[in-house]
Amino acid sequence: MSETPYDLIVIGSGPGGYVAAIRAAQLGLKTACVERYPTLGGTCLNVGCIPSKALLDSSEHFAHARHGLAVHGVNATVELDLARMMSRKDAVVRQLTRGVAGLFQKNGVMRLEGVGRIVAPGQVQVTGPLGSQVYDTARILIATGSKPVALANITFDDRRIVHATQALALSEVPRRLTVIGAGAIGLELGSVWLRLGAEVTVLEFMDRIVPGMDRESGAVLRKSLERQGIKFSLGAAAQAARVDGDVVRVTVAQGEKTSELECDVLLVAVGRRPYTEGLGALEAGVAFDPQGRITVDDQYRTSVSGIWAIGDVIPGPMLAHKAEEEGIAAVECMMGMAGHVAYECVPNIVYTWPELASVGLTEQEAQARGEIAVGKFPFLANGRARAMEEKEGQVKIVADAKTDRILGAHIVGPRASDLIAELAVAMEFDASAEDIARSVHAHPTLAEAVKEAALAVGKRAIHI
Ligand code: FAD
Ligand code: NAI
Repeated sequence: MSETPYDLIVIGSGPGGYVAAIRAAQLGLKTACVERYPTLGGTCLNVGCIPSKALLDSSEHFAHARHGLAVHGVNATVELDLARMMSRKDAVVRQLTRGVAGLFQKNGVMRLEGVGRIVAPGQVQVTGPLGSQVYDTARILIATGSKPVALANITFDDRRIVHATQALALSEVPRRLTVIGAGAIGLELGSVWLRLGAEVTVLEFMDRIVPGMDRESGAVLRKSLERQGIKFSLGAAAQAARVDGDVVRVTVAQGEKTSELECDVLLVAVGRRPYTEGLGALEAGVAFDPQGRITVDDQYRTSVSGIWAIGDVIPGPMLAHKAEEEGIAAVECMMGMAGHVAYECVPNIVYTWPELASVGLTEQEAQARGEIAVGKFPFLANGRARAMEEKEGQVKIVADAKTDRILGAHIVGPRASDLIAELAVAMEFDASAEDIARSVHAHPTLAEAVKEAALAVGKRAIHI
């Protein structure tokens, strides 16, 4: 038993857990964070958002140097140093995970290394390099995140049949990469290896890529990725795969037909599932939904008093910024403050090139709820995009036809990930399209395309 009980023990140090622990310490709680791995930061920093973006940025430089410089009058000979690209990615991860350790120290969060198990409400056992110890705590916050989903008849061998973690660390460029799933992971990591020289085929069960996102914007992205060389097989379900010598044979069902596809590496990217193995939550009486997610109320309280949960382990989009906001809100609610997450304003981004960034309702969802007005503006007509030679994509704003309130926004284009922030903030403030249309946007910037799309909602765009 620990001598002085903690006010809060957070289990899991991903973006949900570590941010919650820091916020709790800021609010004066004696806080510890349990992490089973030696580095902090969870999926996001170690094997998710950060390494994938490091490789996306590096591979973008490579592809741009090969195909995008001549138009600017720059002729270059380019050579890939994959080992260096990977070691830069590893260094970025190292710096950021150490950064979290530094933030814990600065804020007085105690780090407990080992596997955390809820013994009972108010007690967490930590089993790690220093043995096993039970700690008393007034509150427990579960932030144990998620793991990749596996498909029946397709067994990961971590070399040729892989999930994202291995696809972030291949030691050579596969000649043929097949990806199952045209979601965020499939498109991002498919793009990385395409740019580095692989032939990439993406199999998608649905009739379109990024099925959860705005249909038209997904189609714009698909065209662009096809132009870059990704081959999409839609309405195609991967049914089985086996390693046969140096190749992987994938059985694919498409309509009535079943065929076999051969590749060198198969990346399975068909979603993630909540991770609670060995946590002791079920045994402690915590309620789960049929999808294995922990059920919580609007203050992130589980069915057991004294135990809260946030992030990928509870319902909602599996996104780092969603987990972070929930971490803050949960801790503030514990302290009697008004913690809240505006779920209708959570942006969702696919970091391909062009990027696809969305917030709020898709056009189809908004249409189903009532009369809408839609404004669009293509980057082709934006001065800065032309100067950058980045002419693909568009900004689309969906507003309520009567009130002009912004209901959703969808951007396919250069730096869409940064541009969407303006619209997410606008939606947090219940802004109308006119609010954006009348705000001064610096010239020449990509953000002017956002203003023009807002003007287009009222049919008064200037530059188109
Ligand atoms: P996690 O980050 O999964 O952290 C949970 C932590 O808990 C882990 O470190 C785990 O080791 C630890 N843990 C689990 N059980 C125990 C236990 N019993 N004891 C001790 N420790 C335990 N999201 C974005 O928003 N943007 C992106 O660009 C993005 N890119 C991604 C790219 C990839 C390849 C992947 C796989 C994911 C990506 N995501 C992205 C999703 C994002 O990583 C997750 O939504 C986010 O990490 C969830 O945070 P979390 O804190 O809930 O859980
Ligand atoms: P996903 O749920 O985004 O996409 C999986 C895709 O696989 C779906 O389109 C689905 O229809 C398809 N699929 C499922 N089974 C199939 C089969 N048998 N054959 C063919 N297609 C099949 O999942 P993904 O890409 O694995 O990502 C997991 C999570 O990580 C997501 O929730 C995502 O939000 C998060 N993430 C976020 C990123 C970002 O914000 N940029 C980047 C990477 C991951």
